[in-house]
Amino acid sequence: MSNAERLSHKVLIPEIRIKNRIKELSQQINYDYQDKELVIVCVLKGSFIFFADLIRELEVPLSCEFLGLSSYGGKMETSGEVKVTLDITEPLKGKNVLIVEDIVDSGLTLQYMLNMLRARQPGSLRVCALLHKPDAMKVKLDIDYLGFKIGNEFVVGYGVDYQERLRCLPYIGIVEKEH
Ligand code: PRP
Repeated sequence: MSNAERLSHKVLIPEIRIKNRIKELSQQINYDYQDKELVIVCVLKGSFIFFADLIRELEVPLSCEFLGLSSYGGKMETSGEVKVTLDITEPLKGKNVLIVEDIVDSGLTLQYMLNMLRARQPGSLRVCALLHKPDAMKVKLDIDYLGFKIGNEFVVGYGVDYQERLRCLPYIGIVEKEH
């Protein structure tokens, strides 16, 4: 049995709260981008479930792009070194770009991504994140659309993994202990 299978967790944010918050976030995004076109970027792997639920609430014309970034490599703390595992295919120059992240923890992934995408000269560049750990931030960054602020706990589920496991939980869970 692997460590992930032995990991116990409890519910931190239930499915219904995520669903309701996504409705609120999408209303704000629909309002802010009315009469505009959007390139919406799913940051793999962690944001694929949040992304899929969010875009189905959006009414603005959009194209979907996928950007693979990784820095945890199965560990509970960031290595600090961000690796690009998959790049966006569409040119971003002059476009309205919205990054969709599952979680902003240390902020190092987001900082790397903002620098990478700003260099492609988008017309606008904003960030939507489901979860944010303000106390863990190592850099100062703004999140334009935020689902929930959480404490410094290790969370799993709704796309977020521990050693590639538990992404498929329909809620956000908080890891309690290994036993
Ligand atoms: C997670 C998460 C974010 C990043 C946030 O990705 O999806 O992209 O960490 O952490 P940070 O703010 O400390 O940089 P991870 O590297 O675990 O890859 P994954 O999404 O493929 O699981």
